[in-house]
Amino acid sequence: MISFENNVFHLATDDTSYIIGIFSDRLLNFYYGKRMNKVPDIESVLPVDHSRTFSCNDINIDDRRYSTDNLTMEYPTFGSADLRSPAFSATYKDGSAVTSFKYSGYEIFDGKYDIPGLPAVYAESGDRVSTLKIILKDDVSKVTAELYYGVFEDYNAITRSVRIKNDGKDAFDIDKALSLSIDFRRADFDMITLNGAWARERLPERLPVRIGTQHIESMRGITSHHENPFFALLQRNADEFCGEVYGFNLIYSGNFLAGVQRDSYNITRAYIGINPQSFKWRLEPGECFNTPEAVTVYSDCGIGKMSRTFHKLYRQRLCSGKYRDIRRPVLINNWEATYFDFNEEKILNIAKTAKNVGVELMVLDDGWFGTRNGESGSLGDWVPFTDKLPNGVKGLAQKIKALGMNFGLWIEPEMVSPDSDLNRAHPDWCLHIDGRKPTLGRNQLVLDLTRKEVTDYIKSVFDRLLSDGDISYIKWDMNRSMTEVGSAIGGAIAQGKVYHAYVLGLYDVMEYVTKTYPDVLFEGCSGGGARFDGGILHYFPQIWTSDDTDALERIYIQYGTSICYPYSAMGAHVSAVPNHQVYRTTPMKMRGDVSICGQLGYELDLNKLNVEDMECVRRQITDYKALSDVFHNGELYRLMVPIGNNAAVNEFISDDKNTVIVCTYILKGVPNSPYDFVKLQGLDNDAEYMDESGKILSGEYLMNFGITLKYNADYKSDITVLKKVK
Ligand code: GLA
Repeated sequence: MISFENNVFHLATDDTSYIIGIFSDRLLNFYYGKRMNKVPDIESVLPVDHSRTFSCNDINIDDRRYSTDNLTMEYPTFGSADLRSPAFSATYKDGSAVTSFKYSGYEIFDGKYDIPGLPAVYAESGDRVSTLKIILKDDVSKVTAELYYGVFEDYNAITRSVRIKNDGKDAFDIDKALSLSIDFRRADFDMITLNGAWARERLPERLPVRIGTQHIESMRGITSHHENPFFALLQRNADEFCGEVYGFNLIYSGNFLAGVQRDSYNITRAYIGINPQSFKWRLEPGECFNTPEAVTVYSDCGIGKMSRTFHKLYRQRLCSGKYRDIRRPVLINNWEATYFDFNEEKILNIAKTAKNVGVELMVLDDGWFGTRNGESGSLGDWVPFTDKLPNGVKGLAQKIKALGMNFGLWIEPEMVSPDSDLNRAHPDWCLHIDGRKPTLGRNQLVLDLTRKEVTDYIKSVFDRLLSDGDISYIKWDMNRSMTEVGSAIGGAIAQGKVYHAYVLGLYDVMEYVTKTYPDVLFEGCSGGGARFDGGILHYFPQIWTSDDTDALERIYIQYGTSICYPYSAMGAHVSAVPNHQVYRTTPMKMRGDVSICGQLGYELDLNKLNVEDMECVRRQITDYKALSDVFHNGELYRLMVPIGNNAAVNEFISDDKNTVIVCTYILKGVPNSPYDFVKLQGLDNDAEYMDESGKILSGEYLMNFGITLKYNADYKSDITVLKKVK
């Protein structure tokens, strides 16, 4: 519901209110938080009765109480009196860089706005979704900013995007155009970010917000292993279960900037958008520029409720395509089983055994093309390596299908090896700057996806691979950060556009392949989890979470990832022990119990397992098929988080509330074990629940007395399924 009265807009979801108002032609944030029925008026928002010395008086020269320098601005610009971090800045024909937006009008309409060429959360018919468009103008530069707000009432989320228009006669350069900026009238925040590196992605870090700026960013051309385009602001005493929490996420797969600036007046500015570093977007008269979408949610019940709000929205209204709603196949991938050392026979042997225990899809990873036997060549030459596959990919795919399984393939379509036919034919198709030696990463170069002939080439590769229907799954990888980011086309003016135009080119290809081949399941990947973001999730419903497949490490990685993203999005594989990344040995049961909550797969040669482990795998797969609907479409309660505890406990409740799954992981055995009780959440207090042994416990008992943890051995895990019986 969106209303406009007395110069105040109220964007109300079922549980939240987002309130913005016009004060002397400026757009101000009045409030964001728990749903309010009465909106505040301007006098309550601006209770100032003294001069704001040393802030310049751009509101009214005769009234020194007010300055945009210490008001709660909604889309701040650079160059005039608000000298905090701006959301927008541009350089004009005369070299000046001042923009000052004034309110100029609004529109409210049903449904969700579109962002051409960019992934976004969408509405389906029957959803209570409406859009507010607010128009801001700078009279001197003739720049218009249209602020779009999508109000998802039943999902309790607000989406935002900005369209910048050049209504003047001269071109100008956008230097910075963030997707969201909000000024909160408070300073008592902590900030959570998801940080890491290869094989240890997205570990939550919590720090107090102090005066000044704190931000996270990517300059790698991709989202990165290091920082994720998500952060949360929390009331200081908020935790997993209690307190106020705001979450911010950018639906984008390239360079981002996200952070806060706390000023000296207890105002905290939160912002997120494209990273302005190396971004300069020339806008010709009549042209417009769209920012990516930002999503914001508010929780009055801790981090857990914020996560559940993101999860539901992303599962149901960000992911798209037929696999959004159906169970995805259990797969086996040969990467950790063989690396580059495979042939048709080895792959068939892995597949046959896997089929016998219920695996449904055989995925052939890196090394099937050109003459690739290691990390050094052939990327771009997507033709079968006949030494390994004498019958080609098609021949192998047909043999796999004859076993009663589906066949999937790994590809890294954005890359080219210096040693490849593609590079020899088109040496200027990679990102590079003339006169500078391009830096290699994993011995490879990045194709210039700002060029149409390059994106057309990639589309034609997919047409060749996918049109005969033998391949029903694609693992789309991207294994390096970008350096020397320049394009051979477009001249000097185009160079400031390359990073973002690359992402637009990527989305164009992803849109094409997913729309042309709707029956193919796509999984995103980037050296594990370097592109785990909402942009990828819009096209591909699952993403390889991390190259670290160790069960213990994965508990932390999946926990951090679940702060924003749902388990249904996480590729999770059982691998061999000792683990290839950390050399740790964990029981097969624990490895399965960790992977079963995500998109279950196996990444080992099952022929090498003993009978007992094989039986365990068979059971895992049977359980997964029976329970995946609850893991993937239910609600997650993190009853005990692994950081700071000696166990992790997750509870999933099915959509119909009739099935509850409690996953318990003991991280380390403790001699003479202490007691720990964990209370379940979200159950029906008056109902009774039965476990697999037939024992019946009441909702009241489970939510108040809880379950007992026993720290009697390392890496002990348990999956308990409770069914509502009454
Ligand atoms: C990346 C992926 C791995 C595997 C290799 C193949 O590192 O994350 O899963 O596909 O590439 O080279």
